[in-house]
Amino acid sequence: MADTPLHPLDVLRFYADSGVDIALDEIAPNRLTAPAPVAQGYQFEVPKREAPKPFAAPSAKSAPQSASRNSGLPAAPDAAIRDAGKLASNATSLDELRKAIESFEGCALKTTAMKTVFADGNPQARIMFVGEGPGAEEDREGLPFVGRSGKLLDRMMAAIGLDRTSAYIANIIPWRPPGNRTPTPQESAICLPFIRRQIELVNPDILVCLGGPSATTLLEVREGITRSRGRWFDYDTGARKIKAIALFHPAYLLRSPAHKKLAWQDLLAIKRGLADLN
Ligand code: URA
Repeated sequence: MADTPLHPLDVLRFYADSGVDIALDEIAPNRLTAPAPVAQGYQFEVPKREAPKPFAAPSAKSAPQSASRNSGLPAAPDAAIRDAGKLASNATSLDELRKAIESFEGCALKTTAMKTVFADGNPQARIMFVGEGPGAEEDREGLPFVGRSGKLLDRMMAAIGLDRTSAYIANIIPWRPPGNRTPTPQESAICLPFIRRQIELVNPDILVCLGGPSATTLLEVREGITRSRGRWFDYDTGARKIKAIALFHPAYLLRSPAHKKLAWQDLLAIKRGLADLN
């Protein structure tokens, strides 16, 4: 078969279909030789291998230091988690929290995302939905759930009399993982203090976790979403317990429409939960 040159658009389409939908550079860098990117004080650098040192019990002195940002040491995730925790607890309003997240440099996802996706909807709402993390359209618009799965979420909410004026919507991770990959446990752990504070500040009466990652992160359930969905849990903010429930993620329902029947049952449970509040 004769070699036919590929049209550049076909190549781009192939990349996009394979999940490579962000261009960071005109020339592909050789990551094995290029210096690691530095994001304002945090180095996302794989430390050079050193000869193993004899074991010594950790002391306060050798603990990861978030403050010593110019020490040349790579920032341990613990340091980023601690910084996120401090920023989150210092925020006394959603506005302050949004600014704190926008100023945070401890999560590498921020370096590839276009926008910080904080929230949409009504912060006074009695119900709050929490998804996993933004996709491409959310990243472009800076708002959660505005793509295909967001349109389905809107229809799911409408089915029980809700919309974005009567519900508040956020994500565990406020920055889009490149190519929509699943956030790593480290990335989720770093961002967790922010969403926990966001829930505390919104203080809803009902919390809905959209999809398995949201449920496992916030409700600490070990089972998959197929088993955890539709059950009521207590989400403890530290100040009070909020009724929480897990629901199939709309993106999953788009791929597996047969499960919409179960999602409908769960939506009815949420509707009853809201009615009980009155
Ligand atoms: N999926 C999510 O979990 N969150 C969004 O904002 C969009 C899609």
